[in-house]
Amino acid sequence: MELLATRSVIKEDKSNIITLGAIAKEEKKKDPSVVNATIGMLYNENGELFAFKSVDEALKRLSTDEKYSYASTPGSAKFHDALKKWIFREYYNEFKDISAVQATPGGTGALSNTFANYLDLNDKVLLPNYMWGNYKQIAYENGIGFETYDLFNESGNFNITDVKEKIQKLVDSQGRCLIVINDPCHNPTGFTMTDNNWSDLIDIINDISKAGKPVILLHDMAYLDFDMRGMEATRKNIRLYKKLNPNALAIMAFSGSKTFAMYGIRIGAQICVSTNKENLDAFNRSSKFSSRSKWSNPTNLGQNVIATILTDEKLLASFEEELAESRLTLTKRAQTFLEECNNVGLKTLPFSCGFFITIPANNPEKAYEYLVNKKIHVIPMGKVLRVTISAISLQECKMLPKFIKEAIDKTN
Ligand SMILES: Cc1ncc(COP(=O)(O)O)c(C=O)c1O
Repeated sequence: MELLATRSVIKEDKSNIITLGAIAKEEKKKDPSVVNATIGMLYNENGELFAFKSVDEALKRLSTDEKYSYASTPGSAKFHDALKKWIFREYYNEFKDISAVQATPGGTGALSNTFANYLDLNDKVLLPNYMWGNYKQIAYENGIGFETYDLFNESGNFNITDVKEKIQKLVDSQGRCLIVINDPCHNPTGFTMTDNNWSDLIDIINDISKAGKPVILLHDMAYLDFDMRGMEATRKNIRLYKKLNPNALAIMAFSGSKTFAMYGIRIGAQICVSTNKENLDAFNRSSKFSSRSKWSNPTNLGQNVIATILTDEKLLASFEEELAESRLTLTKRAQTFLEECNNVGLKTLPFSCGFFITIPANNPEKAYEYLVNKKIHVIPMGKVLRVTISAISLQECKMLPKFIKEAIDKTN
C-alpha cells in the first residue's frame, strides 16, 4: 500500500550535486590530494571556506534579539532598504519607490515564491536548457511544469530568437509567461549576457506583453557580485526594468549565500520592480502569504548581518574590498583553467565569469567515473561535466584540464 500521495510518489531529490559533493568531501577527508570541484561555495587557496571577515564582524555586533528573535514575515524595513541600496547602487533614488522586497531563505525561497505566484497550477515556467537542476524540482513542488529555451545559438551567443519564440508560444498556450534568466555568471556555464542581449530581451518582453497577456521576468542573480566586469556593469542592466510596461514585471532572486558567503544561514530575497503600484501591492500580498505558509518568517540573523554591513560605511568598505578579492581569485582560477584547456585542446561552453566552467561530454557519467579513479570529483549533468573552480586552487585549475581531456577522449 502506497502511503505517499500520488503526486509525491515520484519525489526524489534528483540534484546529484549535494550527493556527489558529500562523497567528494568524504574522500578528501581520507586523502587530502583528492580534488573536490563539486559544490558551489568559494574556497581560498588553502582549501578553507572563503568567509568574509566583515561578515564575522557584523555577526559579533548583533544583540541577542537581533540574532534569535522571530522576524516579521516580509523581513525588516531596514533590511529591505539596505538591500535596495546594494542592488540598485547609483540608481537607488530612481528605484526605491518602484520596488518591493520580500526576505526569503536563500535565492531558493525567492525562486519558489515567484514560481508559486506568477503561474497557475499545471502551467509551465520557461527555463534555460543548461540550468541549475533545482529549478525543475522547485517547479514540481509548486505544481507547475517547465519548457526550455536554448541558451546559445550556433555561434555560441545568447539565443534571443529562441527566447522570443518560446515566450510567445507560452503566452499563446497559457495566457502568460514566466521566464527565468540566470545572469551574470550563469550556472553551470559561466555565460554572461551582453548589454545588447539585455536590451533586446526587455524590448521583446514589452512587445509581447503589450497586448495584455503578462510576461514576468524572473532574474536569478545568484552570482551577481562575481561578475569580473564589476558592479557598474551588472547594475546598468537592472536599470532597464524601469522600461517595462504594466503588463510585464521583473522579479530578482537575490542570494545572500553567494554575495555574503553565508550559505548555511539561508538568507535571500525577492526584489520586484514595477512602475505600477498595483503590481507592487499584489507582489507584497502574495509573497507574504507564500512565505508565511512555507517557512513563516525569514532569518533575522541573516537579515541583520547584511543590514549591519550595508549601513556601516567602514564595514561596507571592507566588505567590498573582500568581495573584490574573491572576484580576483575567481578570475585568476578561470584564466589558468581556460589557458590550460587551450593548451590541451579541451573545449568548454562559453564562459565569462563565476563559480563554474562546463565541458561538453557525450558520456558525462562515465567521464565522471574515470575522473574519480584519478581522485578528481566534478559534477556530471545532462551532456556536460561541471567543474567548480570556486572550490579548487590555482594549481588544481592548472592540472585538471589534461585529466578531463583524457576522460572525455576515453569515454566519448
Ligand atoms: C543558479 C542558482 N540560483 C539559485 C541558487 C540558490 O542558492 P541559495 O538558495 O543558497 O541562495 C543557486 C545555488 O547554488 C544557484 O546556483
